[in-house]
Amino acid sequence: MILVTGGAGFIGSNFVLDWIAGGHGPVVNLDKLTYAGNLENLAALQNDSRHIFVRGDIGDSELVGKLLKEHKPRAIVHFAAESHVDRSIHGPADFIETNINGTFKLLEEARAYWGGLPDVERAAFRFLHVSTDEVYGSLGSDDAPFTETTAYAPNSPYSASKAASDHLVRAYHHTYGMPVLTTNCSNNYGAFQFPEKLIPLMILNALNGKPLPVYGDGLNIRDWLHVGDHCTAIREVLKGGRLGETYNIGGWNEKTNLDVIHTVCAILDEQQPAANGQPYTSLITYVKDRPGHDRRYAINARKIERELGWKPQETFETGIRKTVRWYLDNAGWINNVTSGAYREWVDKQYG
Ligand code: NAD
Ligand code: DAU
Repeated sequence: MILVTGGAGFIGSNFVLDWIAGGHGPVVNLDKLTYAGNLENLAALQNDSRHIFVRGDIGDSELVGKLLKEHKPRAIVHFAAESHVDRSIHGPADFIETNINGTFKLLEEARAYWGGLPDVERAAFRFLHVSTDEVYGSLGSDDAPFTETTAYAPNSPYSASKAASDHLVRAYHHTYGMPVLTTNCSNNYGAFQFPEKLIPLMILNALNGKPLPVYGDGLNIRDWLHVGDHCTAIREVLKGGRLGETYNIGGWNEKTNLDVIHTVCAILDEQQPAANGQPYTSLITYVKDRPGHDRRYAINARKIERELGWKPQETFETGIRKTVRWYLDNAGWINNVTSGAYREWVDKQYG
């Protein structure tokens, strides 16, 4: 048994589905079901006794303590977070509450539980904290990619809150000897990603004939990783990662936002051409830049490759094709997530 937090979100649900499909064991999935959490992502597990879903907050210490006592997990894989940079700019409070205070409360419950385990289980227990490359700040065009020793320099309320949570996790290892592992991953894409993030937003807007809003000059660079590769990397770190260490995870796929949008448009032109015969790129619209917009992220993922033998399996070209196809084939999922609250967000952010 493992306890996953945030397992109804984008990466968490992919992780839970892969974990159970791979026969790695049962999962207790604790998720608050914020706007980003969606039980439909887990529909394939509806009648599967290996998946126990619990709606709740990682900051609810009583609930977390009870779940740990009852299910005795051998590991906690911690995904739950507020994850969208633009939302953190509009309102940082939820980011501080969940990403910092929530992680702190979860760590406290985990420490109490771990401390009370018999020796063998105590030695085998792991707390894996899923974090982001954004904690390292922004790179210039000639800078070397982030390594695990790059100094932290978070620039948004989101990345600052994730950086704070990384420091807490590190401190629990250093101070209390807790068996923690931290992963810092680059931009993920794939099935079940909420359409507030770049790739699904562009796919949906294009299909609806809406503008494709490019922040600033569109030349910001991100390093894209297919979510399936991220899930494999997390499993490898959980299995063989050295305690107290951090592992960078990335796809070796640095792309400008315009490159990504052009690729998405080209696949859509081929698979579902616009009714008016125009290429989807004709919808590209430059909008006001994100405040404090980080220019470039790039990950050096050699440590996880060297120590654990992990390398991404998808290229950007194969992964993005699968992803566009998934959105084309899942209109029902899209309709359900783009209801009232989503439209309010789009109005607030894009006017
Ligand atoms: P997401 O926003 O899609 O999902 C977050 C999930 O956490 C949702 O299901 C939500 O309901 C749940 N949640 C939020 N607050 C909670 C709380 N207080 N208690 C319990 N559950 C709560 O996020 P994601 O994109 O799947 O990201 C998952 C994790 O991976 C985050 O920690 C994020 O920082 C990290 N990460 C994301 C990316 C990316 O590209 N998406 C890259 C690197 C790291
Ligand atoms: O690097 C890892 C991070 O990647 C994760 O920690 C975050 O949880 C995840 O949201 C993601 O952050 P980004 O800010 O990089 O992702 P987002 O999809 O919001 O934006 C990607 C790039 O596209 C960024 O440069 C901003 C730009 N963008 C985004 C949107 C939503 C646009 O130009 N237009 C848009 O409408």
